[in-house]
Amino acid sequence: MKQTQLSALEIAHGSSRRFAAIARYYRNFYKELERSGLDPYRMTKLGAWATSRAAHVFFFFKTIELANCKLFLDLGSGDGIVSCIAGIFTRSLGIEIDVDLCSIARNASCDLRLDTRVNFICGDYLDHKIDQADCLYLYPDKPFDRLAKKLSKWKGTILIYGPHLPPQDFEPVRTLRCGKEQMVLYVNSG
Ligand SMILES: C[S@@+](CC[C@H](N)C(=O)[O-])C[C@H]1O[C@@H](n2cnc3c(N)ncnc32)[C@H](O)[C@@H]1O
Repeated sequence: MKQTQLSALEIAHGSSRRFAAIARYYRNFYKELERSGLDPYRMTKLGAWATSRAAHVFFFFKTIELANCKLFLDLGSGDGIVSCIAGIFTRSLGIEIDVDLCSIARNASCDLRLDTRVNFICGDYLDHKIDQADCLYLYPDKPFDRLAKKLSKWKGTILIYGPHLPPQDFEPVRTLRCGKEQMVLYVNSG
Protein backbone atom coordinates (compact mmCIF):
# COMPACT_ATOMS: atom_id res chain seq x y z
CA MET A 1 0.00 0.00 0.00
CA LYS A 2 1.31 3.44 -0.90
CA GLN A 3 2.30 5.92 1.81
CA THR A 4 -0.44 8.41 0.79
CA GLN A 5 -3.16 5.73 1.01
CA LEU A 6 -1.89 4.69 4.45
CA SER A 7 -2.04 8.28 5.69
CA ALA A 8 -5.59 8.73 4.41
CA LEU A 9 -6.65 5.57 6.25
CA GLU A 10 -4.91 6.68 9.42
CA ILE A 11 -6.60 10.07 9.24
CA ALA A 12 -10.02 8.45 8.73
CA HIS A 13 -9.41 6.10 11.65
CA GLY A 14 -8.24 8.97 13.88
CA SER A 15 -11.31 11.10 13.12
CA SER A 16 -13.65 8.16 13.82
CA ARG A 17 -11.90 7.58 17.18
CA ARG A 18 -12.25 11.25 18.09
CA PHE A 19 -15.89 11.23 17.05
CA ALA A 20 -16.57 8.13 19.18
CA ALA A 21 -15.13 9.97 22.23
CA ILE A 22 -17.35 13.02 21.59
CA ALA A 23 -20.47 10.87 21.06
CA ARG A 24 -19.75 8.93 24.28
CA TYR A 25 -19.19 12.13 26.25
CA TYR A 26 -22.52 13.68 25.17
CA ARG A 27 -24.42 10.39 25.59
CA ASN A 28 -23.31 10.39 29.21
CA PHE A 29 -24.27 14.05 29.58
CA TYR A 30 -27.80 13.40 28.22
CA LYS A 31 -28.16 10.40 30.58
CA GLU A 32 -27.20 12.65 33.50
CA LEU A 33 -29.76 15.23 32.37
CA GLU A 34 -32.42 12.52 32.20
CA ARG A 35 -31.52 11.27 35.69
CA SER A 36 -32.08 14.83 36.96
CA GLY A 37 -35.51 14.86 35.33
CA LEU A 38 -34.43 17.25 32.51
CA ASP A 39 -34.71 16.94 28.73
CA PRO A 40 -32.12 17.93 26.09
CA TYR A 41 -34.30 20.79 24.87
CA ARG A 42 -35.70 23.95 26.40
CA MET A 43 -36.36 27.60 25.71
CA THR A 44 -33.51 30.11 26.05
CA LYS A 45 -33.57 33.91 26.10
CA LEU A 46 -33.38 34.10 22.27
CA GLY A 47 -34.81 30.86 21.03
CA ALA A 48 -35.17 27.15 21.55
CA TRP A 49 -32.37 24.75 22.38
CA ALA A 50 -32.44 21.31 20.79
CA THR A 51 -29.45 19.31 19.60
CA SER A 52 -28.41 18.17 16.14
CA ARG A 53 -27.87 14.39 15.95
CA ALA A 54 -24.19 13.63 16.40
CA ALA A 55 -23.76 10.65 14.05
CA HIS A 56 -25.58 12.43 11.24
CA VAL A 57 -23.56 15.62 11.69
CA PHE A 58 -20.29 13.65 11.62
CA PHE A 59 -21.41 11.93 8.41
CA PHE A 60 -22.34 15.30 6.84
CA PHE A 61 -19.04 16.95 7.81
CA LYS A 62 -16.99 14.03 6.48
CA THR A 63 -18.95 14.02 3.22
CA ILE A 64 -18.46 17.73 2.53
CA GLU A 65 -14.76 17.53 3.57
CA LEU A 66 -15.08 20.13 6.29
CA ALA A 67 -11.28 20.07 6.71
CA ASN A 68 -11.16 22.44 3.71
CA CYS A 69 -12.94 25.09 5.77
CA LYS A 70 -10.66 27.53 7.64
CA LEU A 71 -13.06 28.70 10.35
CA PHE A 72 -16.33 26.95 11.20
CA LEU A 73 -18.88 28.88 13.22
CA ASP A 74 -21.98 27.39 14.85
CA LEU A 75 -24.59 30.15 15.22
CA GLY A 76 -26.41 29.29 18.42
CA SER A 77 -24.14 26.46 19.54
CA GLY A 78 -26.27 25.08 22.38
CA ASP A 79 -24.34 22.50 24.40
CA GLY A 80 -21.45 22.60 21.90
CA ILE A 81 -21.88 19.15 20.35
CA VAL A 82 -21.70 20.39 16.73
CA SER A 83 -18.73 22.70 17.36
CA CYS A 84 -16.85 19.80 19.00
CA ILE A 85 -17.54 17.51 16.03
CA ALA A 86 -16.44 20.28 13.63
CA GLY A 87 -13.24 20.57 15.71
CA ILE A 88 -12.22 17.10 14.50
CA PHE A 89 -11.81 18.64 11.04
CA THR A 90 -10.97 22.33 11.48
CA ARG A 91 -10.85 25.35 13.79
CA SER A 92 -14.27 25.78 15.27
CA LEU A 93 -16.17 28.42 17.21
CA GLY A 94 -19.65 28.36 18.76
CA ILE A 95 -21.67 31.41 19.82
CA GLU A 96 -24.52 30.81 22.24
CA ILE A 97 -26.69 33.22 24.23
CA ASP A 98 -27.45 30.87 27.12
CA VAL A 99 -24.80 31.05 29.86
CA ASP A 100 -25.42 27.52 31.19
CA LEU A 101 -25.26 25.93 27.74
CA CYS A 102 -22.09 27.88 27.02
CA SER A 103 -20.46 26.59 30.16
CA ILE A 104 -21.48 22.99 29.33
CA ALA A 105 -19.92 23.48 25.87
CA ARG A 106 -16.66 24.89 27.28
CA ASN A 107 -16.37 22.03 29.77
CA ALA A 108 -16.94 19.53 26.96
CA SER A 109 -14.20 20.97 24.73
CA CYS A 110 -11.83 21.00 27.73
CA ASP A 111 -12.69 17.46 28.91
CA LEU A 112 -12.35 16.17 25.34
CA ARG A 113 -9.02 18.03 24.93
CA LEU A 114 -10.35 19.92 21.95
CA ASP A 115 -9.93 23.34 23.51
CA THR A 116 -6.92 24.33 21.36
CA ARG A 117 -9.21 24.35 18.30
CA VAL A 118 -12.78 24.54 19.65
CA ASN A 119 -13.87 27.70 21.46
CA PHE A 120 -17.12 29.27 22.63
CA ILE A 121 -18.38 32.80 23.04
CA CYS A 122 -21.37 33.51 25.23
CA GLY A 123 -23.45 36.23 23.54
CA ASP A 124 -25.78 37.14 20.68
CA TYR A 125 -24.27 36.07 17.37
CA LEU A 126 -25.80 39.13 15.69
CA ASP A 127 -23.37 41.25 17.74
CA HIS A 128 -20.30 39.46 16.37
CA LYS A 129 -18.28 39.57 13.15
CA ILE A 130 -19.67 36.27 11.95
CA ASP A 131 -18.63 37.03 8.35
CA GLN A 132 -15.02 36.22 9.32
CA ALA A 133 -15.89 32.53 9.20
CA ASP A 134 -15.92 30.83 5.80
CA CYS A 135 -18.41 28.23 6.94
CA LEU A 136 -21.48 28.88 9.09
CA TYR A 137 -23.70 26.21 10.62
CA LEU A 138 -27.25 26.80 11.72
CA TYR A 139 -29.87 24.56 13.24
CA PRO A 140 -32.51 27.26 12.89
CA ASP A 141 -34.92 28.05 15.66
CA LYS A 142 -36.32 31.15 13.94
CA PRO A 143 -36.60 32.71 10.44
CA PHE A 144 -33.38 33.87 8.81
CA ASP A 145 -34.21 37.53 7.99
CA ARG A 146 -31.93 39.32 10.50
CA LEU A 147 -29.03 37.07 9.62
CA ALA A 148 -29.61 37.53 5.90
CA LYS A 149 -29.09 41.29 6.26
CA LYS A 150 -25.82 40.73 8.10
CA LEU A 151 -24.58 38.30 5.45
CA SER A 152 -25.67 40.17 2.32
CA LYS A 153 -22.06 40.50 1.04
CA TRP A 154 -20.63 37.37 2.61
CA LYS A 155 -19.10 34.78 0.25
CA GLY A 156 -18.90 31.64 2.39
CA THR A 157 -21.04 28.53 2.72
CA ILE A 158 -23.89 28.18 5.16
CA LEU A 159 -24.89 24.71 6.34
CA ILE A 160 -28.50 24.44 7.42
CA TYR A 161 -29.48 21.42 9.49
CA GLY A 162 -33.03 20.17 9.10
CA PRO A 163 -35.71 20.88 6.50
CA HIS A 164 -37.26 23.96 8.06
CA LEU A 165 -36.62 27.68 7.64
CA PRO A 166 -34.39 27.86 4.53
CA PRO A 167 -32.39 31.12 4.30
CA GLN A 168 -33.75 33.79 1.99
CA ASP A 169 -31.36 35.28 -0.63
CA PHE A 170 -29.22 32.14 -0.48
CA GLU A 171 -29.13 29.44 -3.10
CA PRO A 172 -29.07 25.71 -2.22
CA VAL A 173 -26.07 24.05 -3.87
CA ARG A 174 -26.02 20.60 -2.25
CA THR A 175 -28.40 18.53 -0.15
CA LEU A 176 -27.19 15.67 2.02
CA ARG A 177 -29.42 13.12 3.69
CA CYS A 178 -28.71 10.63 6.41
CA GLY A 179 -31.63 8.62 7.79
CA LYS A 180 -34.37 11.13 8.51
CA GLU A 181 -31.98 14.07 8.81
CA GLN A 182 -30.78 16.48 6.17
CA MET A 183 -28.24 19.24 5.80
CA VAL A 184 -28.30 21.72 2.90
CA LEU A 185 -25.35 23.83 1.75
CA TYR A 186 -26.24 27.34 0.65
CA VAL A 187 -24.24 30.13 -0.96
CA ASN A 188 -25.11 33.77 -1.40
CA SER A 189 -27.13 34.27 -4.56
CA GLY A 190 -26.54 38.06 -4.59
C1 LIG B 1 -31.82 24.58 17.83
S1 LIG B 1 -30.54 25.03 18.95
C2 LIG B 1 -29.12 24.38 18.08
C3 LIG B 1 -27.93 24.04 18.97
C4 LIG B 1 -26.71 23.51 18.22
N1 LIG B 1 -26.34 24.37 17.14
C5 LIG B 1 -26.95 22.13 17.68
O1 LIG B 1 -27.18 22.04 16.47
O2 LIG B 1 -26.92 21.16 18.44
C6 LIG B 1 -30.45 26.82 18.66
C7 LIG B 1 -29.62 27.53 19.71
O3 LIG B 1 -29.41 28.87 19.23
C8 LIG B 1 -29.39 29.74 20.35
N2 LIG B 1 -29.64 31.09 19.81
C9 LIG B 1 -30.75 31.54 19.15
N3 LIG B 1 -30.57 32.82 18.73
C10 LIG B 1 -29.34 33.20 19.15
C11 LIG B 1 -28.56 34.39 19.00
N4 LIG B 1 -29.04 35.46 18.33
N5 LIG B 1 -27.33 34.43 19.54
C12 LIG B 1 -26.81 33.34 20.20
N6 LIG B 1 -27.49 32.19 20.38
C13 LIG B 1 -28.73 32.10 19.84
C14 LIG B 1 -30.48 29.19 21.25
O4 LIG B 1 -30.29 29.63 22.57
C15 LIG B 1 -30.28 27.67 21.07
O5 LIG B 1 -29.45 27.14 22.05
